[in-house]
Amino acid sequence: MSRLVVVSNRIADPRKTAAGGLAVALGQALEASGGLWFGWSGRIAENGAPGQGEVNRQQAGAVQLVTLDLSREDHDSYYLNYSSGVLWPVLHYRLDLADFDSGGIAGYRRVNQLFAQKLKALLRPDDIIWVHDYHLIPLAAELRAMGCEQRIGFFLHVPLPPPLMLAALPEHDWLMRSLFAYDLVGFQSQTDVTHFERYASDELRAQWVGQHGWHAFGKTLQVRAFPIGIDVDEFQALGEGKDAREMFEQLRSDYARRRLLVGVERMDYSKGLPQRLKAFRTLLQNYPENQGSATLIQIASPSRESVDAYAALRAELESLSGAINGEHGELDWMPLRYIHRNVARKRLPGLYRAAAVALVTPLRDGMNLVAKEFVAAQDPADPGVLVLSRFAGAAEQLSEALQVNPYDTARTAETIQRALQMPLAERQQRHAALLQRIRAQDVHWWRENFLRALRDTQEPEKEP
Ligand code: ADP
Ligand code: G6P
Repeated sequence: MSRLVVVSNRIADPRKTAAGGLAVALGQALEASGGLWFGWSGRIAENGAPGQGEVNRQQAGAVQLVTLDLSREDHDSYYLNYSSGVLWPVLHYRLDLADFDSGGIAGYRRVNQLFAQKLKALLRPDDIIWVHDYHLIPLAAELRAMGCEQRIGFFLHVPLPPPLMLAALPEHDWLMRSLFAYDLVGFQSQTDVTHFERYASDELRAQWVGQHGWHAFGKTLQVRAFPIGIDVDEFQALGEGKDAREMFEQLRSDYARRRLLVGVERMDYSKGLPQRLKAFRTLLQNYPENQGSATLIQIASPSRESVDAYAALRAELESLSGAINGEHGELDWMPLRYIHRNVARKRLPGLYRAAAVALVTPLRDGMNLVAKEFVAAQDPADPGVLVLSRFAGAAEQLSEALQVNPYDTARTAETIQRALQMPLAERQQRHAALLQRIRAQDVHWWRENFLRALRDTQEPEKEP
């Protein structure tokens, strides 16, 4: 069997905590198959020169981690300015937040070349290479230009917007063309695949050749949806652990006579946090029985703090949460517990299980793993209810969740109220259906399906 080589910007020791869907899912997937994981070390070499860097090697269980420090200039232009400041907002339908003039594109190209150069030196001829996410879209094109003929697949963890939105990106043509250097491209949802297909046919004049194939630039590319999942067994086992049980018992006793709602994410404008807090405030106003009872624990861990839009979001949330507690709080009860920190992963299942309702209401999300983790953590005999944005990729699979439009404050509040009042039998029924789905389409299913499809692609074609 050929060796699996995974490449992503963010990597994490699979045995440790990581906030961010990509690192969590890849850690779990790689741990199961072994192989090599190549990416940024997370460190900045303050005296390093742009386009250069030394690799570090480390063994983490079955996985060999090979990482690269980035120079300050590369980090800022490739990661902060272009990946986080341009690609992330555009791919999440937020043209208003993209800083198109930051000049990060030069660093983005340079770091992709650097990754390709360093990676090439580690590759064996029969390796199978799997590249992840928007930071590394042109990586295969760089590898091919250096003569690599291995099979290379790409998975986009975030959404792909409609063609005319993508076309706002000054480099859209170059970027989307470079996808044709891969053998297989995977997206999270059918909606994303549809957007790709419209872009490929309208903008690139690619030809549909059947069987998920698109032909352009002398190359046939396979394109399919592979919705990412979680490791349900691992997460449930974590829930049996001491830390999760203690968390659960603590919260159950603190909130014995109250109703607990929970939200967990990185602090990101894609997650719809201000809209969620406003819906929660409307819940307290429109359904006064929740006054003195409904409590929302909102965890929003620090993320990309040196990007302006994230600093602005933090200020907005701090002011909004202060206003809600000021308006509705009582001497012995605060409606909102807003925490701007990480929760240790081993405690998370306890937090989820203690909650009557989870609010997973992004404005746009590739998939959203928190929704799936919440379902996995519930007690099937007395499960909590998932309130899920219809704009999360997970909404395509999780039809038994209560789905909302997070921009519609009043109806989101109404749906939260419905979730809080849902009879036990309906909760059990919905939970059983959701659990069955996330089990059937878990992270192993995702990995195996993608890699099978990649292995089944035609032998890589030689450049003419
Ligand atoms: P994203 O990839 O945009 O961060 P996902 O919901 O797909 O969103 O994945 C987030 C992952 O990171 C989940 O596994 C979740 O448990 C973890 N995570 C997110 N926020 C936190 C937090 N504040 N504390 C601990 N873990 C977190
Ligand atoms: C999302 C992206 C990942 C990214 C993660 C955390 O999950 O899809 O590629 O790693 O957010 O963001 P960060 O910028 O800290 O890597």
